[in-house]
Formats: sequence, C-alpha cells, structure tokens
Amino acid sequence: MKSNIIKQFLFLLLLPSKLWAAIHPIDVVGKYFVDSITKERFYIKGVDYQPGGSSEELSKSDPLSDPEKCARDIVLFQELGINTIRIYSINPDLDHDKCMTMLAAAGIYLLLDVNSPVQGQHLNRYEPWSTYTMSYVQHIFKVVEKFSYYNNTLGFFAGNEVVNDMKSAQFSPKYIKVIIGDLKKYIEKHSPRSIPVGYSAADDLNYRASLASYLECAEEKGDTYNSVDFYGVNSYQWCGTQTMESSGYDKLIRTYSSYTKPIIFSEFGCNQVLPRQFDEVKALFSKPMTPTFSGGLVYEFTQESNNYGLVSLDSEGNAHILGDFEKLKNTYKEIPPLRSKEMSKFIVADETLNVTSKQAFFNKHQLPICKNRYDNLNIEGTAIRSVASPIIFKGNHGLRGYYVTLEDKDLQCEYEIYDINGKARSKESKRIKVVNDLKSEKQETIVRSSGVEAASLENSSPKRNFGSQILRLGMLCMLIFFSMMFLT
Ligand SMILES: *[C@@H]1O[C@H](CO)[C@@H](O)[C@H](O)[C@H]1NC(C)=O
Ligand SMILES: *[C@@H]1O[C@H](CO)[C@@H](O)[C@H](O)[C@H]1NC(C)=O
Repeated sequence: MKSNIIKQFLFLLLLPSKLWAAIHPIDVVGKYFVDSITKERFYIKGVDYQPGGSSEELSKSDPLSDPEKCARDIVLFQELGINTIRIYSINPDLDHDKCMTMLAAAGIYLLLDVNSPVQGQHLNRYEPWSTYTMSYVQHIFKVVEKFSYYNNTLGFFAGNEVVNDMKSAQFSPKYIKVIIGDLKKYIEKHSPRSIPVGYSAADDLNYRASLASYLECAEEKGDTYNSVDFYGVNSYQWCGTQTMESSGYDKLIRTYSSYTKPIIFSEFGCNQVLPRQFDEVKALFSKPMTPTFSGGLVYEFTQESNNYGLVSLDSEGNAHILGDFEKLKNTYKEIPPLRSKEMSKFIVADETLNVTSKQAFFNKHQLPICKNRYDNLNIEGTAIRSVASPIIFKGNHGLRGYYVTLEDKDLQCEYEIYDINGKARSKESKRIKVVNDLKSEKQETIVRSSGVEAASLENSSPKRNFGSQILRLGMLCMLIFFSMMFLT
C-alpha cells in the first residue's frame, strides 16, 4: 500500500512537462520588423511555399494540413537556412495546429495570404463590388481567427497583385484599402495580439510608387486602419549577373527609401538565366538595401510548371533536391546572422536600432495623409462602405488555432529525400531540429491513469528545458530519500 502511494508520487514527478514551441511574436515598429521580446530588428529570409501551385484543390488539404509533409519540408527549410515562408492559400476549416507547432519549434514564421482561388474567397479585380460580400469577409476573418493564435504568424497579406493592369487600377485600389481596414479592425477587436496586415504588389512601374503610397496613406490624421503595416513587392528584375544599377535595384531603393513601413520582396528570383545564381540575395542583404528592405521570399519552394522550384516532389511525396536549392542554401549561408545586434549595427551603420526611441519617431501621426490623386490609379468616386461591420462587432466564431504537444515521431520525416545526385538521405539527416526554447507548462497536478502513456510521453519529448529537469531530478532525490526513511 505504502509503496503504491510512493509509486504514484514518483510517477507524477516523472511526468514530462508539456512542451510548447515558444517563438517570439514579430511586431512592426516604424519601418522595421522587430522581435517583440529581444527588440532586435527582424529580416525575412524566406521562400514562397505552395506545393501543387495555386490551382491545387483546397477542400481536403492545404500546405499546412498534413504533418508528415510538413516534417519533410521543414527539414528542408532548416537546411536552406530560412526563417519565414509565405503561403498563398489555405482552407481555414482544416487542422493546422501540428504543422504550425512544428514550424514554430523549428524557428520558422508564416506570412499568409487571406484570400484563396476558391470562388467567393477573393476579389474580382475588374468588378470588386461583385465579390466584396459578407461571405467573402467571413472567409478572410476565419483565416485571421485561426492564425492569430499562433505566435509564429508574422503577418497577413490582404491581397496579392490585385492591381496588375490599367483596368484593375481603375476599379480595385479603393477596395484593397477597405479590406485592409476590415482586417485591421477585426484583429484589433478579436485577436490576442496585433498582427501586421500587408499587401503584395506586382512590380509594375506604372503603379510602383503610386500604389505603395496610396496603401500607406491615412485618410484622416490618426486613422491608421486603412494603411498597410508592411508592403511586399514581387520583383523579378535581377536576372543573371547584374549590379545594383543594371538591375534597377538602385531605383527601387530610391522609390521606397522614405516609406514609413517595412518593405520586403514578397516574391523574387528571376529564372530567365539558368541555373539561378541568387546574387540578388546578397544584394538584398547588403548595406545599400537593408535600411529600406527587410528581406524577402524566394519564389518558390516546390517545382511547378513555371520552373521556379528548389525541390521537386514526386507522386509518392518523396522530395528531390534541385540545383537551385543547393545554390540558394549556399547563398543564404553567406548572409551573416542578421538577428544579432552586432550584425544589425554593421549593415545599418547609421542606425542605432534603439527601438524604444524609434517608436516615438515613427508614431502614427507620421503617416502621410492621402492625396487627391495617385498616378495611374483611380481613387475617385464615393467612398466604399465596409460590409464587415456586423461581423467585426460580433466576431466570427471560426476555429482558433493553438500549439499542440509534439511527439518525437512528429519531428522525423518519413518520406525519402534525394540529393542532387539521386542519393537517398539517411534517417538522421531527416529530423527537424528544435531550435526554440520550449516553455514548459506545469503538469504536476494532473493525475494520469495509465503508466504506459506517461512512459511513452517521457521518451518522446525533446528535452530542452534543463532548468525544470534539474528541479524535477532534485525533487525526485528528495522523495526517494524521504520514502527510504519512511519505509525503514
Ligand atoms: C506568445 O507570445 C507571448 C509573448 O512572448 C507569450 O506570452 C505567450 O505565452 C506565447 N503564446 C504561446 C502559445 O506560445
Ligand atoms: C533607447 O532610447 C530610450 C529613449 O531615448 C532610452 O531611454 C533607452 O535607455 C535607450 N536604450 C538603449 C538600449 O540604448
């Protein structure tokens, strides 16, 4: 009897603490992305990720719904050395908890487009009034509701290349601004933290400066709702061997240098000259660009018909690494660790990166007030009424995401990964590395009935939290000591 009780005690102490991926949320401070905890500037080193391409059916699966495929790709993301992926469309009704936890544990953030190619889930750029409906805003709020609860959601894109020709520039700019406002109001009222809302633009010289300025401006002093929190440019102008001048990057910098919000390449990586050398990656992280640009996302992770892939997936789901993967990996490796304060100082020599003092400078009153006209855009006519107010008021009761406990097997990729010579990877080189400190949640009060379950949990949990392990060990020794006394 006595020993039974003791066993029970020992058993409770042996329970592993529940492990969560603790990843720091990223904030926007003025024109920078900033780690909300360390206050260091954050640069996006990423890839665009939409296996199957944009036409892929979303009803049963999306890029974050299959943990085994996520494991395969996260292993490769880590090898590439990236910290962010962008996903163009997801289905908010599917379960993304495991993949998002795995990404967080691996130190990877997500930029997510709220729209999808599914009918009713995106704006018709030529007739936006016909598609800006209650059910449309329901969809985008569901995406927000789901993903706001993950700390590694870095931001949402309200639109991607909605303005892409003269006709769309006639009709859609005002709608984009209204949707940005809807999203920001919804986040303010219903999300656990403030998540940046941006826009991803086609880099067309007709709208390069004007659309960026229009989406940045405040309609009234102090009203920041309809202004983007960050701006993405899809840029394919650096092809093959170029310089800042021959590529026209110098002009891009000039256009955006006075922008008050972070600017990124939401897509880049011209493939007109093959194999790609990714010299533009070095340019993007060099001293002329880092004061204005906060990094970017290479288009794209998987090989699709347009031939931009780094990795090709076969019908069994096995991955074949392509030459561009190796090249990009080696190029990203040459970029020094940008999150360190020293590095930030080095590349932005004229900035102290004291975010606290910068915050006062880049407050909301610094936003430019909207002008009456912007080149090549039609912003005239009556204001558009938001259809979203009732839902913003009530909330949308969509599913909320949350981090789940990972087991050891979740970190192991079971698909084959073949290197460029066709050689299959060893099992050990197909494991996700847990890079984030894992926050433990006290579980000592929870009594479990099955010892088997506890044992399997104990074996499977990656142990990073040495503090609590030592504490538990200490308590265990004490308990053994006392029980010995008690028994004798
Ligand atoms: C999210 O980040 C905040 C701030 O670091 C932290 O307090 C919170 O516990 C985190 N949530 C999860 C689920 O990790
Ligand atoms: C940053 O600036 C603020 C306000 O000017 C100041 O109080 C703070 O000490 C500075 N922090 C650092 C780390 O220099």
